[in-house]
Amino acid sequence: MIKQRSIASHVAMLVSAGTLLLSACGGATSSAPPISIGLAIAQTGSAASFGQDQVIGAKIAEKWINDNGGINGALIKLVIKDTAGDETKAVTAFQSLINESKVVAIIGPTLSQEAFVADPIADKAKVPVMAPSNTAKGIPQIGTYIQRVSAPGSAVAPNALKAALKANPNIKKVAVAYAQNDAFSKSETAVFQSVLTSDLQLELVAVQTFQTTDTDFTSQATNLINSKADLVAISGLLTDSGNLVKQLRDLGYKGAIVGGNGLNNPNLFPVCQAQCDGIFVAQAYSADTDNAVNKAFRDAYNAEQKKTPSQFAGQAFTAVQVIAEALKAIDSKSKLSGMTVEQIRTELNNMLKSGMKFSTPLGEISFDKEGEIMQTQFYAAQVKMDADGKNGKFVFLTK
Ligand code: ALA
Repeated sequence: MIKQRSIASHVAMLVSAGTLLLSACGGATSSAPPISIGLAIAQTGSAASFGQDQVIGAKIAEKWINDNGGINGALIKLVIKDTAGDETKAVTAFQSLINESKVVAIIGPTLSQEAFVADPIADKAKVPVMAPSNTAKGIPQIGTYIQRVSAPGSAVAPNALKAALKANPNIKKVAVAYAQNDAFSKSETAVFQSVLTSDLQLELVAVQTFQTTDTDFTSQATNLINSKADLVAISGLLTDSGNLVKQLRDLGYKGAIVGGNGLNNPNLFPVCQAQCDGIFVAQAYSADTDNAVNKAFRDAYNAEQKKTPSQFAGQAFTAVQVIAEALKAIDSKSKLSGMTVEQIRTELNNMLKSGMKFSTPLGEISFDKEGEIMQTQFYAAQVKMDADGKNGKFVFLTK
């Protein structure tokens, strides 16, 4: 049997050879094979608008970590696979990262729909997963090796409803629309419906469903308008949700629109253009978060993309950061170079679940014993489009 050389053994060889050097500016410089972290993200397909921004955020984190000394001198390297927003491709990406790339952890996949199928494979192989954007109920509970930096819809989505109600106190009749072929959308609409009817005691007058692949929403928009709802809460991915908003407004709907995690990023603006104006959304990330790491992230993102980072980018940065900082904490006590990749994976999972605190673009966070993020700061925002509908921004609202 051919013995596969672990990442740890590569690092060990170079440490013993004395070739692991820190540069004068504090960056990690090493000719050793770096510590590989998998990134299984939807860069194509129905979730590409989310995934492409996640890759940008994760790569900024990779550079920031390596520029600041890496893992006590060892570089990290992201091994990136496209899951295409598809369960089967997510499984293939996970298997390749686990068995061929021998990554110490996987960040991904983009969609909860993918995660419910792919995560059990990593859990069985004892490879830690850090979900960067899965907000459906039940993600950390998939297994011992699963955690997330993306707070669940139950913690985030109600903030958008509260903001919409504050701005429109006379709302009485409400409706929801959701993508019935998507796990996160089904989970999020359950939150919206529960808060609207149980907490806010409003009358639910319509429930409309669609597919993430739909482009014609005439029937749903007509039914929502005929229901006389004063507020419509939409749970879907980006293009479907954006088209529903546009067609709803084009057909004359004048009430409030609340969006979920599918609508809270600027890639929405080209889809509904001027008709995006006024949508209420919740955010688990604010570019104004006042700490050094967020400033470094925001400035790097802004310099590269010429815009403010989205929640997807902020969470992806955070996912890479927490894995790197947990690895560093392990290495400071017991050298990674003396461990097999299997040992590193288990130690990493234990460290992430140890209650260790991280100062991140999402604020100070930690993970509970099940792997759920412990995050305290959430926000509400409203879309403000320019008159020509070409550019827009999220205006953060005070609580
Ligand atoms: N929040 C979305 C999901 O969980 C992207 O699928």
